[in-house]
Amino acid sequence: MVLNRRAVEALGSPLAVRAEVHEEIGSTQERARELAVGDPGAPHGTLVVSKVQTGGRGRLGRSWGSPGGGLWMSVVLRLDLPLHLAPRVTPAAAVGVAKALREMGVDARIKWPNDLLVGGAGGRKLCGILAEAGGYPSNHFIVLGIGVNANVDQRELGAPPQKVATLRSELGRDVDLLELLGSVLAKIDFEFGRLHDFGAVLDDWRSLERTLGGRVRVQRFGQVVEGTASDLGPEGQLFVQTETGVVEVFEGDVEHLRHEGF
Ligand code: BTN
Repeated sequence: MVLNRRAVEALGSPLAVRAEVHEEIGSTQERARELAVGDPGAPHGTLVVSKVQTGGRGRLGRSWGSPGGGLWMSVVLRLDLPLHLAPRVTPAAAVGVAKALREMGVDARIKWPNDLLVGGAGGRKLCGILAEAGGYPSNHFIVLGIGVNANVDQRELGAPPQKVATLRSELGRDVDLLELLGSVLAKIDFEFGRLHDFGAVLDDWRSLERTLGGRVRVQRFGQVVEGTASDLGPEGQLFVQTETGVVEVFEGDVEHLRHEGF
């Protein structure tokens, strides 16, 4: 099916009430933010998709390779959620995307906080999620960016092949990007409907993850924390059991050092 504005809006998703589909753009994240901060600010469910991104961005200021064939999208969210609960959005999105990818036949699992990986040992990254808030206090919004390496060859991604995966490499076939988008939107919208019942989202997160129980090294604020990822906190934070005690990590870059069973 063709990926164009009309087809995307026809999905009928509350997360695609208004859509832009670009052939090429710097970053869907920047474009969605531009729409959100506009006057009037774009409503909940304003979705920006691009077939190619020339300046795709990842977490922690990294670049995100976005050649043709991937699903590169950002959506403006205006959720009925107090600001202090906004961090719930990323784990909920990770659960939704994991479910969508698994339904397509890929054994994707969540690496804390919100990467989707496949494969053994350190795993290969199939999808990244980036949530950025803005407009506080009067025009508060979150731009949620999702990048799925879909119909792409691993070598096109500009990262070592042992670190990245694509749906093409995993399934041995290409997928319909509109269908994938529809499924991702439906699943994350379902999880967003449970943000006030976050324990249920976290239960699913736990059943879909691959970080807990393993040795991790976490970089945060220039500090390194090394230990065993022991559990999730009630807001999705990671507890790391170190030699000197339990450290609570809200944000950071996690390296899996070893994980029993993978
Ligand atoms: C990460 O894992 O570091 C997050 C990657 C997020 C990439 C997506 S692709 C669509 C959207 N536009 C961007 O520039 N980034 C996000």
